[in-house]
Amino acid sequence: MYDKNIEKVLITKEEIEKRTSELAAEISRDYKGKKLIMICVLTGAMVFFADLIRKIEIPLEVDTIVASSYGAGMTTSGSVRISKDIKYDISGKSVILVEDIIDTGVTLKTLTQMLATRAPESLKVCSLLDKPSRRRVDFEGDYVGFKIPDEFVVGYGLDYAEQYRNLPEVCTLNPEGI
Ligand code: IMP
Ligand code: MG
Repeated sequence: MYDKNIEKVLITKEEIEKRTSELAAEISRDYKGKKLIMICVLTGAMVFFADLIRKIEIPLEVDTIVASSYGAGMTTSGSVRISKDIKYDISGKSVILVEDIIDTGVTLKTLTQMLATRAPESLKVCSLLDKPSRRRVDFEGDYVGFKIPDEFVVGYGLDYAEQYRNLPEVCTLNPEGI
């Protein structure tokens, strides 16, 4: 194992690759002929985003957004703001917001409400992971890679205190290591 705090591999590289290809195929089919713009929610989604867009076989634009929630730690405090906005005008475009994980749902609920005010033709969310049991607000992803149980995960872009983003698979952390 990478270090003593990593408990186990939850989702292997091969599983991620296969599922990412499936999502990319669905998106390529669903957005054919549309003005697609894919927005990466930094930092956590960057690894997934980079792999996903390279598997999509239709033209698309990319942009990035940074959301911050007040209060650090392992969960969202409940108050989310955009700390780096997208560069492009999304009016009339088909937008897919790409996230690493839907946990309480607060981040994506807030981001999608803010972006919806800018008159996109459509606005959907693609998330690598989803922890439905943790939801505090009503929110569902449109394209979801894997539903996972309520365990804190790292790797493939996801961090704990900015560590572990470089792991090629999704792993769980030892509770003592947290
Ligand atoms: P939400 O607003 O609670 O849905 O939180 C989403 C954000 O919390 C994600 O973008 C992650 O940055 C972070 N997060 C939630 N669960 C995990 C986890 O298990 N590992 C790493 N980050 C997580
Ligand atoms: Mg995040």
